[in-house]
Amino acid sequence: MSTKATIEFEGKRIEFPVVKGSEGEHAIDVKSLRQQTGLITFDPGYKNTGSCQSGITFLDGEEGVLRYRGYEINDLAEKANFLEVAYLLIFGELPTHEQHDAFLNDIKEESYIDEDLKKILESFPKSAHPMGVLSSLTSGLTAFSPSSVDVNADDQIYNAIVRIMGKLPILVSWVYRKRMGLPLKYGDYALGYVENIARMMFRKPNKEYVANPIIDDALTKLLILHADHEQNCSTSTVRIVGSSHAGLFASVAAGISALWGPLHGGANQAVVEMLEDIKNDDGDVNKYINKAKDKEDSFRLMGFGHRVYKNFDPRARIIKKTADEVLNDLGVVDPVLDIAKKLEQAALENPYFVDRKLYPNVDFYSGIIYRTMGIPTEMFTVMFALGRLPGWIAQWREMRKQKEPIGRPRQVYVGERKRSFVPFENR
Ligand code: ACO
Repeated sequence: MSTKATIEFEGKRIEFPVVKGSEGEHAIDVKSLRQQTGLITFDPGYKNTGSCQSGITFLDGEEGVLRYRGYEINDLAEKANFLEVAYLLIFGELPTHEQHDAFLNDIKEESYIDEDLKKILESFPKSAHPMGVLSSLTSGLTAFSPSSVDVNADDQIYNAIVRIMGKLPILVSWVYRKRMGLPLKYGDYALGYVENIARMMFRKPNKEYVANPIIDDALTKLLILHADHEQNCSTSTVRIVGSSHAGLFASVAAGISALWGPLHGGANQAVVEMLEDIKNDDGDVNKYINKAKDKEDSFRLMGFGHRVYKNFDPRARIIKKTADEVLNDLGVVDPVLDIAKKLEQAALENPYFVDRKLYPNVDFYSGIIYRTMGIPTEMFTVMFALGRLPGWIAQWREMRKQKEPIGRPRQVYVGERKRSFVPFENR
């Protein structure tokens, strides 16, 4: 294959280098396009634009492949803990025992929140959306820690990383506890990272907390499966905010806001809302299957199909097993969960869905698991943010280390051309 691509415009032919990725993708390097031709590329939504070179996550939607730093997602979800995966994403290699323990200890050292930030949380109404509260509190952290990091100083980057890894789970658990009317508490730092998160969230004030390994395992898998997904909307947001040399807390706070949108992190919430609608409509699953098949009806089965994965979502295979385990173990009686099982079965047997390879995606099962754990629907995206944190950190660190320029897309201006100002009294 040629390593050059030619663009011809107004009789002039110009060659551009072609960049090759390690998995065989090719990209035309148009950095000098404007300078050489006066042209820019036009690509709303950046669907055809490589914004960076990244060595973190590889995904191939056609083949159903997702790898972090070269490791298959199913190996990581089955065999690693969340902190190992976070270390891998951020620093590029699986940690040794010493590195893992040092990372965990350093995170524990930072696992506290300035009491003044608690006052900010207390001033939010209980009805406030948890994602808005989490984004605000994460921004608020910048007021209590230096916001700017010298990228040439590895210790400063490392400190920023362990700080946010220590503090975000506390904020998440407090946002949850405030929503549930529970007292704000710290965890037990003798526990592992995820086990401590489960304890901080689910511990009741009136009884001894007893860890449930099935919940800890499900939470671990969900967080690992959501930990990175290359240059999606929130990750691109983190990179672009960070490219102005804004600090890690500020960049992550922006990522949380981007994740909040229903087109991004809100899909599992939409799944449970759809299941509730079906339940309130006499639980008639087939009616909704037929609505989804009807081309005159805009209704789609939430949690089925995927924009990127056209064969299957590799994460869904792993999490389906976990969803079954959690449902069996907790034995929760919930008509909404019964509808989920019926809907899954009906869609998997229906030729419309089979022919179009429309399988349940990760959001279908994650919504079911979170509901089974008793987590309110509005908190689902907060849990997603917790999982995505290592990915945001890894991408922010990579962007800063590569000394990427400030993100500044151009535009094709289609507004008014120059015109004369009309004074107020004459309009
Ligand atoms: N229910 C019913 N029919 C569907 C569904 C669905 N959930 N998803 C796709 N189809 C149909 C389409 O109508 C189309 O039918 P046709 O070939 O007869 O025209 C065919 O399947 C192919 O679908 P596309 O529209 O090409 O798929 P696209 O890639 O555009 O959409 C999407 C993917 C948006 C995820 C879609 O499947 C969907 O809306 N799913 C439900 C929402 C959801 O779960 N979103 C979260 C996914 S995670 C993520 O993408 C961030």
